[in-house]
Amino acid sequence: MNRTTTLKSHYYYDEAIFAKEVECIFKEEWLWVARSEQLSKQGDFITTDVAQFPIVLVRGKDNILRAFHNICRHRASKVELRKSGNCKQLVCPYHGWRYSLQGQLSNPPKFHGSDSFDHNDHSLYPVNIEEKYGLVFINLSSQPKSLIEWLGPFNNVVGDQYSDDFLFHNELKFDVHANWKTYVDNYQEGYHIPSVHPQLNRDVIWEEYELLNSHDCSIHSVPEKGGSDQPGSFGWHFPNFIFNIYGRGIVYQRIDPLRPKWCRVIYNLFRPPDISYDDFENNEGKYQLEVSLEDQELIPEIQHNLQTGIYTSGPLSTKYETGVAYFHDLIINKINRELNNDSNNRGDR
Ligand code: FES
Ligand SMILES: [Fe+2]
Repeated sequence: MNRTTTLKSHYYYDEAIFAKEVECIFKEEWLWVARSEQLSKQGDFITTDVAQFPIVLVRGKDNILRAFHNICRHRASKVELRKSGNCKQLVCPYHGWRYSLQGQLSNPPKFHGSDSFDHNDHSLYPVNIEEKYGLVFINLSSQPKSLIEWLGPFNNVVGDQYSDDFLFHNELKFDVHANWKTYVDNYQEGYHIPSVHPQLNRDVIWEEYELLNSHDCSIHSVPEKGGSDQPGSFGWHFPNFIFNIYGRGIVYQRIDPLRPKWCRVIYNLFRPPDISYDDFENNEGKYQLEVSLEDQELIPEIQHNLQTGIYTSGPLSTKYETGVAYFHDLIINKINRELNNDSNNRGDR
């Protein structure tokens, strides 16, 4: 795991590579999809698309949060079209089939199914779901490792900072004309700080930016310069989950793969309860937005150049770009491994 050159440029736009990533990565890993506070009451639901898979999340009458593929077992309509709301059952808009909040199909009246049709065999397809740090994660594979095991060393850092009484502050969302990996690459190094992020560069000693790459995560740390009140602590977990700590509170970030040449970057900011909205917004909120917009100016231009056919691959710094190298090695290993490996052996390479 010591590559010194980038992925080949076609990895950033090729349809077949993207399809392989969906199959071998996004259908296998835990993915952050929502916040717990969006689903706090019985009957609360939200719908979302995860790497092109429509999903519905709903809190049952037994208070248990569940996730299902948002696909009717009759003729494949979405069972819930709304983005969010509260419901007593899930009613398919196509022919009116009804599912309990536990995903069980009621016997559809006037259906006249064949003798072998049994509504009990047609529950919604379930999806693994777990909650942590105020967030909801799902996993589309059949027998994933637990979320806490998957988080690994990430949990030590985020667990230290996040507290259950944190308040959801706000969400930022950007559709960026770039492959999801183009965005992750940029996140995985501090080498661009002096050129791209003037304020961050005033606050941290970028030459001492360090990454600890292991267990499918990179824990970033960078010492602050004297006088700065914005110490930096950052981390990325394969494939697309990130946390940023600029001061108080925490910022979660993810990079959703939309299409080979498009991704969606989503930030959720959480603040401690004793910090007012305005105070947090004018400090950590402003800081996060500024850093993000600085990156977003460059990234679509990089994507464009990756697609020109002029550049095929480039060298990586063995000091400052170990996170990019680690990410690229993981991509190659995951998409080339045999599907349906024993999930217990994953992540230890
Ligand atoms: S597709 Fe859902 S009821 Fe027919
Ligand atoms: Fe950046």
